[in-house]
Amino acid sequence: MTAVAIIGGSGLTNLKNLRISRREVIRTPYGEPSAPLVYGVLSGREAVFLPRHGPGHTIPPHEVNYRANIWAIKHTGVSRVIAINAVGGISPDYLLPGTLVIPDQIIDYTYGRAHTFFDSEQKQVTHVDFTDPYCEELRQTLIDAARRARLSTIGHGTYGATQGPRFESASEIRRMEQDGADIVGMTGMPEAGLARELELCYVSIAVVVNPAAGKAEAAISIREIEKNLESGMSKVRALLEQAIPLIVQG
Ligand code: HPA
Repeated sequence: MTAVAIIGGSGLTNLKNLRISRREVIRTPYGEPSAPLVYGVLSGREAVFLPRHGPGHTIPPHEVNYRANIWAIKHTGVSRVIAINAVGGISPDYLLPGTLVIPDQIIDYTYGRAHTFFDSEQKQVTHVDFTDPYCEELRQTLIDAARRARLSTIGHGTYGATQGPRFESASEIRRMEQDGADIVGMTGMPEAGLARELELCYVSIAVVVNPAAGKAEAAISIREIEKNLESGMSKVRALLEQAIPLIVQG
C-alpha cells in the first residue's frame, strides 16, 4: 500500500526523483482535485504526488480545491502527508532564502475558503483538536532526515497563512510578527486543518524564497523568488529522498 503522499507547491509541480507508475483521476464529493494523483516509487518506496497548483501551475492559492485534494489523498488509503510550501521569511532567523523550515504552529489569516468537511450537512456538530496542528512524529522524522542529509533546517516555527494572491503590506507583516508568525505563505490553510479533520498525519516542509514585505531593502521580486524556488526545491528533493525510507519501512 502507498504509505506517504506529497503535496507539491510552487516550484514543485513534478517530482523529478519519483519513478512514475500510474496516474489516477479521482472525483470527490467536493469536486475535482488540482490534478490526477501521480503514483510512483521514491527512494525505493511507494509514494503518491499531487501538485497543489495543478500540473501547469495555473491554480492560484485562494482557488485551490483544498477539500477535494485532501479527500482524494485520504481516499488512496495513505495515512501520512508531506506538504511543500514556499514562504516568505519574517523573523530574523528565517529571512535567508533557501532556508528549510519544519513548522510546528500555524495561524490562519485566510478567509472565504471552503475550510471544513464538517459543515451543516453533518449529522452532528463536530470539532477537532488543533492544539498542535502538525504531526509531531513525522516532524521529528523530517528533522532527523535533514540532519542525516546535512541540510541545515529550522525544526520549528509558526506559519502565518494569508489569503493572497497579492503579497502582504509591510504593516501586515509587522502585525503578523507581533502575532508570533515566523514565516508567511498562502497555502498552509485550510490544508492543515482539513488533513486533521480526516485524521491524516500531516507536516509541512516550508522553503523560504524571499524576505517578507518590509524585511529587505528592495520590494519583493518575482525573478528573485523564482531563482530561490529552484535552488530551494532541489534541497526539498534531497530531504524527501532521505526522509521517505525513514517514514516508510522497506
Ligand atoms: N508572502 C506570502 N506568501 C509567500 C511569500 C510571501 O512573502 N513568499 C512565498 N509565498
